Amino acid sequence: MENETESTRSGLFTYKGFNFISNVHEEGYVDTLEQFVIRDDDIFVVTYPKSGTTWMQYILVLMYHSKDLKEETNKRMMDVVPWFEVKSKVDFNEMPSPRTFLTHLPTSLVPQGLRHRGKVIYVVRNPKDVAMSYFHFHNIFKLLPDQKNLDQFLDDFLEGKVFAGSWFAHINDWYNHKDEFNLLFLTFEEMKKDRHGTIIKISNFLGKTLDSKTLDIIVEKSSFENMKKNPTTCFERNFPNHFDSSKGSMLRKGQVGDWKTVFTMEQNERFDRIYQEKTSKLPLEFIWDL
Ligand code: A3P
Repeated sequence: MENETESTRSGLFTYKGFNFISNVHEEGYVDTLEQFVIRDDDIFVVTYPKSGTTWMQYILVLMYHSKDLKEETNKRMMDVVPWFEVKSKVDFNEMPSPRTFLTHLPTSLVPQGLRHRGKVIYVVRNPKDVAMSYFHFHNIFKLLPDQKNLDQFLDDFLEGKVFAGSWFAHINDWYNHKDEFNLLFLTFEEMKKDRHGTIIKISNFLGKTLDSKTLDIIVEKSSFENMKKNPTTCFERNFPNHFDSSKGSMLRKGQVGDWKTVFTMEQNERFDRIYQEKTSKLPLEFIWDL
């Protein structure tokens, strides 16, 4: 234990000002991404972790890749909507258009070309719910250290000592640079409140025409309950080496306001103080409750 460094304890390393996961990301690979050639019809889902990435990923699967994921193709969601900053067996240059990606990167590390081409959907979620979800995620995701104490985890979360750094930095960064991209902001909460309306909003933004039957299927299949029982959207099943399913599921509760049942008054006040300090420039239209 004596020789253990901060980064081995946390499972993270910091590169170009951003926190990556030691056994997932590689500096050299991250370096190549800035010059990655963007196509006009590329679609990037951008999130801070635990904000509804998988949900949005699956909605894109349903919109663009439902045929690709038939049993016989042996493909997973991550093959058709890959995690951009992780080297995988998928050759991005060979992917048919429109290509769909997900990323947690800050604006400074995404491809330069994304400022001129392609579309970005940024999903944002009440950071208190994000923190709760992240706390549990550490226990099921084997490449991040277990967290037993919410109070300690909140310290790390509020200080940005977690994968993807500070939630506040992430949202401020993307919000402040939003006009440089062709970008749609969505909140987890609005998706929860009106999945039908949100999916129409997404399809309008992407210029993807959906007939009413397809729309209904996407709305139905992307409910929390249906995703929870669907093997396609089950990361624990698709990546058994990385997840300990005995400790829970990525699709945990899928609720708005779960933090209210757990945060102490002191934790809530501490959170609010930092939230006020660090989000003064964010728009009021982010509504975190239903
Ligand atoms: P909880 O841990 O609060 O349940 P990400 O995909 O960014 O890692 O986010 C995971 C969070 O999104 C989890 O939150 C998960 O349950 C929630 N989620 C995923 N799909 C969802 C859906 N269809 N409806 C509601 N929440 C969903």
